[in-house]
Amino acid sequence: MKKDLFALKGTICYSKNQKELVFAENSYAVCENGLCAGVFSQLPEEYKDIPVKDMGDRLIIPGFTDLHLHAPQYAYRGTGMDLELLDWLNTITFPQEAKYADLSYAKKAYSIFVDDLKHSFTTRACIFATLHRPATELLMDMLEESGLATMVGKVNMDRNGAPELQEKSAQASAQDTRQWLEEIKGRYDHTYPILTPRFTPSCTDELMTELGKIQREYHLPVQSHLSENFGEIAWVKELCPTSRFYGDAYDMFGLFGTKPAFNTNEADFASASGLNTTDNTAAHISSDGASVCPTIMAHCVHSTDEEIQMIKDQGVYVAHCPESNTDIASGIAPVRRYLDMGLHVGLGTDVAGGFSLSMFRAMADAIQVSKLRWRLMDQTQAPVTLEEAFYMATIGGGSFFGKVGSFEKGYEFDAMILDDSNIRHPQEISTRDRLERLVYLSDDRNLVGKYVQGRKVI
Ligand code: GUN
Ligand code: FE
Repeated sequence: MKKDLFALKGTICYSKNQKELVFAENSYAVCENGLCAGVFSQLPEEYKDIPVKDMGDRLIIPGFTDLHLHAPQYAYRGTGMDLELLDWLNTITFPQEAKYADLSYAKKAYSIFVDDLKHSFTTRACIFATLHRPATELLMDMLEESGLATMVGKVNMDRNGAPELQEKSAQASAQDTRQWLEEIKGRYDHTYPILTPRFTPSCTDELMTELGKIQREYHLPVQSHLSENFGEIAWVKELCPTSRFYGDAYDMFGLFGTKPAFNTNEADFASASGLNTTDNTAAHISSDGASVCPTIMAHCVHSTDEEIQMIKDQGVYVAHCPESNTDIASGIAPVRRYLDMGLHVGLGTDVAGGFSLSMFRAMADAIQVSKLRWRLMDQTQAPVTLEEAFYMATIGGGSFFGKVGSFEKGYEFDAMILDDSNIRHPQEISTRDRLERLVYLSDDRNLVGKYVQGRKVI
């Protein structure tokens, strides 16, 4: 049990809902045992003697959740971006990921990644590692040490890889996954496993069947890719001729969400992950009898109406990755539609389809590509607003971890302190304008403090 009780004082900003931001100048965000006790303009009597860290007029905002990125790809971010998805995977990504068979290379590469992630605007992340178990455990050890809260997946892939990047068989992949889960049991406080079939073209039906079993046995969440690129979608149709649409090719194996999803707090997550409890099966069956499989699907750029409906009905999270979708020319996801339908939508950098780790940059990209979509593709679909982009980066993705992404009472205390004094201006500007400028103009120098679950990380 964490024992922290303190307040951060400054210009506090968080989402009231998808459409509205709350701005509280000269106010206090109180952290009690890792949870937010609320935001106050004056400290209530019960907190009047607690330590106050006065941040002046710096902005204090909830941390951002990067809902989709690839740790091994950070090493070559910003290169090799003239190809579409399938060629990009074969010529650049797979050979690069193969290098993580060598633990000394993995150590060098992951040290850089974790250090940069720690100093980025991200407090939580859902991360793909590679298929290599030892390197994945090394990455998890480093992330735990960083203080960030993350979900990390050993990748499964038993077909269509490269000679140097493919598991020997479905059984070998499943066995290695089980060994990974056993080896990390009880090892971490804020680093969680997440089942990670790379995408349908990488996983045989036999492997998907095994992963479905492992999911139900360990109550793990799942992350994968969905409807990112036209060539990929056509290939899935060939590989899984009986699937009605791409998402159905995951659902056939019980790997496509359910309702209700797990979560509300960390304790629930711990039990959902199966790591801190013995058996809790009943809690993981939803009211209509489906087993609970909290799922993130990255991209959903070209999802059909049926697929979108299943995403909604089964509570699947969409990780919207606008920078990656631009870089490897996948397209522009219909995020306005997803938000208006009430889907769970968070933002992902998808490094290294995306080149930047910055979640502010992801917000800017989400707003910008939505304007192009509106102008060029569908004038009934209004662009994404600053309020909506901020919501997706905080509560939208954060809620996959539980009560995360807000300063309302009871949320986990993830906070970032932002000094924007280097973004100079001669005129008076509003707090909203300060926040908007950080979306477009910030870099890591603007981040001067970061807390995750009440822990000071930087
Ligand atoms: N689909 C399967 N693997 C990948 C990957 O590494 N990156 C992206 N963007 N899409 C994928
Ligand atoms: Fe990806």
